[in-house]
Amino acid sequence: MDIDVFTLFPEAFDWFAGQRHVRNAIAHGLRLDRVSFRDHTPLSGGQVDDTPFGGGAGMVLRVDVVDAALRGHYGRDPVELREDRRILALTPGGRLLDDALASELAAEPSLTLLCGRYEGFDERIVEHLATDAVSIGRYVLAGGELAAMVLCDAVVRKLPGALGDETSAVEESFSPALEGAPEYPHYTRPAEYRGWSVPDVLLSGHHGRIREWRLEQARRRGSGGANPLR
Ligand code: 6GU
Repeated sequence: MDIDVFTLFPEAFDWFAGQRHVRNAIAHGLRLDRVSFRDHTPLSGGQVDDTPFGGGAGMVLRVDVVDAALRGHYGRDPVELREDRRILALTPGGRLLDDALASELAAEPSLTLLCGRYEGFDERIVEHLATDAVSIGRYVLAGGELAAMVLCDAVVRKLPGALGDETSAVEESFSPALEGAPEYPHYTRPAEYRGWSVPDVLLSGHHGRIREWRLEQARRRGSGGANPLR
């Protein structure tokens, strides 16, 4: 898979790109590129944003800047490029990222992520240059970079080779294998700590009963009422 992240702060992704599961995925064929809007801006002084029409606080990422960056990087009209690859604008009001969307995106051959800053995007970017608007939750971040990393993390860990154990992303929280429920609880040594013990079934060595117990726990957490995490 190819992921290109367009941002005003390419260096913000250095830490993320160095994470083990990301490096594993890169070793298995993932390409993670960062493209700076500033490197492509047609405006003088590296300008990329402007004050909002109609007034108001903050700055808005310009549509001509994003158009030029996409055109400069891919060598084609972004409006046509949109037919061939998912171009995701990260914006608080977009489609909420969940496990199903992460799986859908992980099946794509290539993704382009557009990170806005300040007050966000000129709406024409979302309408005419992007294929999707994606949000990681109903709250506002100062920019799309953290959201892009969250999205990349959720997608990349589903790629072959990202996790050491191939099965570990299959039966995790919110996956179809767990009927969309949050994951079952995990325990490790010590089996007894300050009087807090591990459920006997997990120490029984009885794999069938362990599997049943875990599915039951996941269902119980999913049903809401008895959720011990809330
Ligand atoms: Cl994708 N961007 C920003 N700036 N804030 C957010 C978000 C995205 N998702 C939730 N809050």
